[in-house]
Amino acid sequence: MNHATHGWERHDPADSDIRKNALSYAILAPSPHNTQPWIVEFDGPLRISLFIDQERLLPACDPELRRVCVSHGSFIENFTLAAGYFGYRADIDLFPGGWPGNALDLEKPVARIDLEKDVAVEKDTLFEQIQKRETNRRVFRKNSITDHQVSVLSEASDVFTPISIVADNDVRETLANYIVKAMEIEVSNQDRITETLARFRFNDQEAALFRDGFGFAQFGSGGISRRLAEHFAISREKAEQDISSLGREAVKLTRKQAFSAAAYAWISTKGNNRMDQIKAGRCYERACLKATEMGLAIQPFSQVLSEHQDMIDLREQLREYIGISGGHTLQMLFRIGYADPVPHTPRRPVDDFVRKRA
Ligand SMILES: Cc1cc2nc3c(=O)[nH]c(=O)nc-3n(C[C@H](O)[C@H](O)[C@H](O)COP(=O)(O)O)c2cc1C
Repeated sequence: MNHATHGWERHDPADSDIRKNALSYAILAPSPHNTQPWIVEFDGPLRISLFIDQERLLPACDPELRRVCVSHGSFIENFTLAAGYFGYRADIDLFPGGWPGNALDLEKPVARIDLEKDVAVEKDTLFEQIQKRETNRRVFRKNSITDHQVSVLSEASDVFTPISIVADNDVRETLANYIVKAMEIEVSNQDRITETLARFRFNDQEAALFRDGFGFAQFGSGGISRRLAEHFAISREKAEQDISSLGREAVKLTRKQAFSAAAYAWISTKGNNRMDQIKAGRCYERACLKATEMGLAIQPFSQVLSEHQDMIDLREQLREYIGISGGHTLQMLFRIGYADPVPHTPRRPVDDFVRKRA
């Protein structure tokens, strides 16, 4: 089996354990660096508790665990869509151990989900896109996006928190410049590069062994992937020895990606508590699934949204440029456009995500 199909192969709808069945779709959600930071406990025949996997954090790139919480929102959205498809209503209780505010007790669940058989439950057609959705890092083609596409996409995603989509030339160019500048700042820090390299899979063997992270394949088979591969001779050792050169390549590649966007979208929330972050993740996943249905490709750029000190000024400038008021937080920024699909990033086996109750 090709490593890229790990986790994405056909699921058995007849699987009698709805918890495991819905879980097998939930883990296809996007996550920062494909860390897959989710772990569940089966608390009853129709109940799961979802936790953050403490072994799968990115302290340098995601110091406040905001991205982790966003990816938990995407996981919950997939889980809910899958439960609905198989005729179950998912009742979600966020942070059942108590209101987390901005703090986060990693020992307590992010969510408790109760499933209830319900013939009247709505089957959302976005479910059908879960196995096709992907992050696409190719340079996008030069096709434009119509106003109609923009409104269809926003309507399908604008469920938990507002999403804005802009195709205007000047705005795209300005945002692309912010994104490139942010990547320059991102790669100026050795810890962040090292953390990203640790999740970069240089070859099929690494991908098959770890079944997480992302690699050359997700940049497509064209120029970007080939340049990266040639430059580093597809070797982890060479990349680790030449980190500054790797950083320069990352900036060059980001420029090509960012300037090829047909549109930009962002998701913001009024506050920035853990519930807001979960809502943003649910909204982001819906945007991805709808875009997939419409034949559109998506890639987030998170560097400019980062919480680390070096990024604060640029992040504030971007917030002002976009016109988001002080208390509001940009949770996701992503490009939309047209590109051929790339191979999926692998997922670990479903059973790896299930922890026995202590
Ligand atoms: C909160 C969040 C932030 C992300 N930021 C980036 C990013 O800055 N650049 C990028 O190329 N992908 C980003 N991604 C996409 C992940 O790398 C991707 O979801 C992961 O590698 C799994 O691949 P898949 O989405 O194709 O399934 C982000 C995903 C999430 C959920």
